[in-house]
Amino acid sequence: MNAHEIRSAYLDFFKEKGHAITPSAPLVPENDPTTLFTGSGMQPIIPFLLGEKHPLGTRIADSQKCFRAQDIEEVGDNRHTTFFEMLGNWSFGDYFKQEQIVWMWEFLTERIGLDPHRLSFTCFRGNEELGIPKDTEAAELWKKLFREAGIDAKIGENSKEDGIHEGEHIFYYSEKKNWWSRAGVPGNMPAGEPGGPDSEMFWDFGAKLGLHEASPWRDQPCHVNCDCGRFVEIGNNVFMEYKRTESGFEKLAQKNVDFGGGLERLMAAKNDNPDIFRGDIFDTLRKKLEELSGKTYGEDISHTYAFRILMDHMRASVFLIGDGVRPSNTDQGYVLRRLIRRSVRFADMLGIQPNMLKTSVATITDEYASIYPSVKEQEQEIEEVLGKEESKFRETLVRGLKELEKRLASGTLSGKDAFELFSTYGFPLEMTQEIAQEKGIVVDEETYRGEFKKHRDLSRTASAGKFKGGLADHSAKVTAFHTATHLLLAALRKELGNDVHQAGSNITEERTRFDFTYPEKVPRETLDRVEAYVNEAIEAGAAVGTTVMDKEAAKAAGVEGSFWEKYPEKVTVYQVEGPDSTVYSQELCGGPHVKNTADIAQFGRFKIVKEEASSAGVRRIKAILQ
Ligand code: ALA
Repeated sequence: MNAHEIRSAYLDFFKEKGHAITPSAPLVPENDPTTLFTGSGMQPIIPFLLGEKHPLGTRIADSQKCFRAQDIEEVGDNRHTTFFEMLGNWSFGDYFKQEQIVWMWEFLTERIGLDPHRLSFTCFRGNEELGIPKDTEAAELWKKLFREAGIDAKIGENSKEDGIHEGEHIFYYSEKKNWWSRAGVPGNMPAGEPGGPDSEMFWDFGAKLGLHEASPWRDQPCHVNCDCGRFVEIGNNVFMEYKRTESGFEKLAQKNVDFGGGLERLMAAKNDNPDIFRGDIFDTLRKKLEELSGKTYGEDISHTYAFRILMDHMRASVFLIGDGVRPSNTDQGYVLRRLIRRSVRFADMLGIQPNMLKTSVATITDEYASIYPSVKEQEQEIEEVLGKEESKFRETLVRGLKELEKRLASGTLSGKDAFELFSTYGFPLEMTQEIAQEKGIVVDEETYRGEFKKHRDLSRTASAGKFKGGLADHSAKVTAFHTATHLLLAALRKELGNDVHQAGSNITEERTRFDFTYPEKVPRETLDRVEAYVNEAIEAGAAVGTTVMDKEAAKAAGVEGSFWEKYPEKVTVYQVEGPDSTVYSQELCGGPHVKNTADIAQFGRFKIVKEEASSAGVRRIKAILQ
């Protein structure tokens, strides 16, 4: 069973259990100001966990493309990747713990064929202060399933302190490990955020591989969460029934299940090989990199590290570019730039010739063509973006080299200098050290690392507080702007033609900032007509309503939307319709919107204050209500 077969087996299994299968949402979330990337399967699902009706019912499953920028530095070991696919299934107030646990067992042991002797599960220990009880129900359910398979699974109470005892397969942990919310532990959750206790599933790669003995954790008691590499988490069942309040927790109106399991890790468990980069989904890419470098993966540990970084970063870059991200100095574009530049450095390290890295793109797009056809369709564009960024980076390196030589001429090079070379010229420390060494100069690495850390903490702080795109919040004014933005797009399409589509939006209480595809400057007279159209709709007191439609019918009816492929067969269309039945706008969306355009009028008239270039082929409008 290869990774694609595991994905299909999972989706088929949950289809049999009455789930509607939905396509993956894009890696760049829409209308979610809290994050740059889709980092888990449930992120696009949040409104439905909070009670909004999903057009396809109460049981949904998918395989979601995910990207976790915070894991960039971790990549290089046998199991971390920035990009991965998360298999997910959800119950919106439908089934709960009992069904989920029994199904998961059936899926893992029967459909995938994992040996139950090698499985372990963790459950929430309970927290009196929070008023959330110990999850003995989940633990007993797992125990019963083990028993039915002829295994007397024991429950470990304190494995973190004591390690694992003979026969233990079920373990209790605190909220640090067995609680899930987007914000993490209960104490970090803002009011209104949903979360709950969870039950994680682990595959035991076994001491037989010598992993545990060889690991830096060898003198500590091994337990499933200890990170020594023996156990790998292959999935997480979240029993999402709580919502954070100002003072504590309350039950959500509905009990939800949120399951997420990393496809690549399930693949590793199925292969019983803890190195996910040996998994079949990387086969063609790995071989291509071997061919380009003339080196064999796994032969030399320092090369292994570089190979893994390349496999991860190239795959992530392909998917990010495929979802519309372009290298830049801010936000998603900055992360992509880092991935590509790191890739170039590690390609150099492996002896891959300049500008050859992009020739590996096709091995990735081919691998995923059947499940994500849009990356295959964009193959050429992706290669071009990668090629251009590599050239740009090489120019930067040339400038950095000149600067470095200038500074070395003084006979010393401080850690601060080395950091400046890195931050301003993109000149990596290893290269600085190498060149300095040729002149007998040693770089103060500690100072360099100190500067690096300072810089990283600063930028983390900045990005944590920064609003990225979509809606800044769901206040009345932002919601009014959001509906007005739908009207704006409809008006632009009416004036400029149907090739105009949304390319991004960023809506705050002050203004809407809207990016759209159009090759040239829009004359002020046209903007005046666009404004007039939006204001006419606002003054008409038009009703904003939703209709659930078949995707094809919606397309045929001229409904506006980007990324059609990410939507399921049934879609929610927001339309703005005047009392005289004039349809001002029809667009795919997940909300929120005002109920009537009269709710926009209270904030004033719609006014376009700026129209400018945003990037190649994309224009940007800023508009206010005054
Ligand atoms: N949302 C849960 C996770 O990402 C399933 O682990």
